[in-house]
Amino acid sequence: MGRLGRPYHYVEETETTQALLGPDDPEGALAVARHQTAGRGRFGRRWEAPPGTSITASVLLRPAAGAPIQQLSLVGGLAVAETVEVALDLSAQLKWPNDVMVDRRKAAGILAEARDGIVVLGIGLNVNQTRGQLPEEARVAPASLRTVDGVERDLAPLLADVLARLELHYDAWTAGGLDTVFDGIGSRDFLRGRRVRVDGTEGVAGGLDRAGRLLVDGRPVESGEVELV
Ligand code: BTN
Repeated sequence: MGRLGRPYHYVEETETTQALLGPDDPEGALAVARHQTAGRGRFGRRWEAPPGTSITASVLLRPAAGAPIQQLSLVGGLAVAETVEVALDLSAQLKWPNDVMVDRRKAAGILAEARDGIVVLGIGLNVNQTRGQLPEEARVAPASLRTVDGVERDLAPLLADVLARLELHYDAWTAGGLDTVFDGIGSRDFLRGRRVRVDGTEGVAGGLDRAGRLLVDGRPVESGEVELV
């Protein structure tokens, strides 16, 4: 295992792995839970999965002061998308700013939370849930790797793969910014060419700019909640 993933904290059950890491932990510290009782997504939403069915993990990052940390959900999303692609032998897409999509469904979400000079990057990857075990009322239709190809998988090797890829992309981003990973992100853009609404503004998504902002009718959007229209 590389730098990301150490020290490793594993718990059977916790409210959220996001709360298991803090400023006293070193960069690379990892918290993994078999079950989260109050897993959270963006905008205060819930992130739910039956015990032992999915990857629910958080990793601590210490980007340089002033670094554009909102880009980290794309960097994390790229790592997860690549892992999903290798596992399924299918292409995956990134739905800006933090969703990993397969077959037009959301298989994973990334939650980048900044506090006290650190970033806790949460990764939720649906792996072995059956269709009936995925949240019914999700805003974006959900998938797991299993609902895509019927295969049940060990979680540990998948997580190790995500972390190895994350380390590579995070180090490149740290050294050279989003440009260094942009090709992998831009080429997987799920929204490009689709009609979207972001925080009340409607238009056609024209891809991402080099800073990782979504272009809607040519205007850059920093962050927000995208709906397909
Ligand atoms: C989203 O799609 O809104 C982001 C979902 C992030 C879920 C992961 S699971 C591990 C970590 N702990 C949490 O409570 N949330 C993140």
